[in-house]
Amino acid sequence: MPGVSLVGSGSACLTVQLSNDILSQRVDTSDEWISARTGIRQRHIAAPDDSLTTLATEAARHALTMAQVGAEEVDLILLATSTPDDLFGSACRVQVALGATRAVAFDLTAACSGFVFALVTAAQYIRTGVFKTVVVIGADVLSRWTDWDDRTTCVLFGDGAGAVVLRACERDRLLGFELCSDGSLNHCLNLAYHPEAVPLVGDISVQKGGFAPITMNGREVYKFAVSRVPEVIEKALFRASLTTADIDWMVLHQANQRILDAVADRLGVPLERVISNMARHGNTSAASIPLALDEAIRAGKIQPGDLIATAGFGAGLTWGAAIVEWG
Ligand code: ACO
Repeated sequence: MPGVSLVGSGSACLTVQLSNDILSQRVDTSDEWISARTGIRQRHIAAPDDSLTTLATEAARHALTMAQVGAEEVDLILLATSTPDDLFGSACRVQVALGATRAVAFDLTAACSGFVFALVTAAQYIRTGVFKTVVVIGADVLSRWTDWDDRTTCVLFGDGAGAVVLRACERDRLLGFELCSDGSLNHCLNLAYHPEAVPLVGDISVQKGGFAPITMNGREVYKFAVSRVPEVIEKALFRASLTTADIDWMVLHQANQRILDAVADRLGVPLERVISNMARHGNTSAASIPLALDEAIRAGKIQPGDLIATAGFGAGLTWGAAIVEWG
């Protein structure tokens, strides 16, 4: 059975920065409150002429360059996003923008778990021998769907895109994974469609509604994350026949520094082995893991051969972990 290796990473560079101080000109909040409760100091926001497609394409292009893989070699593009430019999907737009003419392309939605779910999904295509070269992108423009007058949510989120290139190889570097869902907690975190009945003809009506901004029960999401994330990482480690002592780096979904600290504490992982970029980026949903991964790789922190425990968690509710060896 072919194995999976991670051979390149990339991310998009967003130029618009929104600091806590500037945000507090819009809503009743402060840098002190936001940084103490979340660790976030600023976030990047997509400019009006950016699109999910342009950000995802930029991240994918950088990942392909690092991997030294041509776009025409790509067999599959998996785009994890909850904020597509088109509800029918944006992956095909990325495919054409990249010039990946041979690639099959589709979107996958699992909110902040999207990147881990897409990574594992991509690996199955490689392991079965169907595809050899896959680009996995996590990208979100949550600023489109944030209620900028709701201080309980708008301070948390930012926009971004990150990507990795996976290739078939002999020795499998996806060492273990575990994916979970619990729809009974769906109400805790939503970006929901609200239908409105509009008469069509006779007694037949159709729905012509719209999406409401993000709603969240912060306390419930916090409790869910600090209990479920350590558990799912331990299960993925068990499948890899590894323990937390073997892990060089933890790259978790960047939702809240307190969640990262609590997960590290429960697993007994020293904080210096936990990658965190949330002070600069906030919570970028599906983008947060590949963005943090790419920054740590380009900074020379994560080296070839390093073992990484990565875990995503968020709406659905969904959560999942993957143990990978970089390079
Ligand atoms: N600025 C100032 N005050 C605020 C703000 C703000 N931005 N937001 C809330 N407050 C106030 C509240 O009104 C409340 O005031 P009150 O006591 O007078 O009623 C007080 O601060 C405490 O509010 P809580 O909601 O209890 O604050 P908490 O300590 O729970 O922190 C937070 C809120 C940061 C959202 C926390 O619950 C959390 O991090 N939860 C996890 C959320 C998360 O990570 N979501 C994303 C994960 S999934 C995904 O990525 C999509």
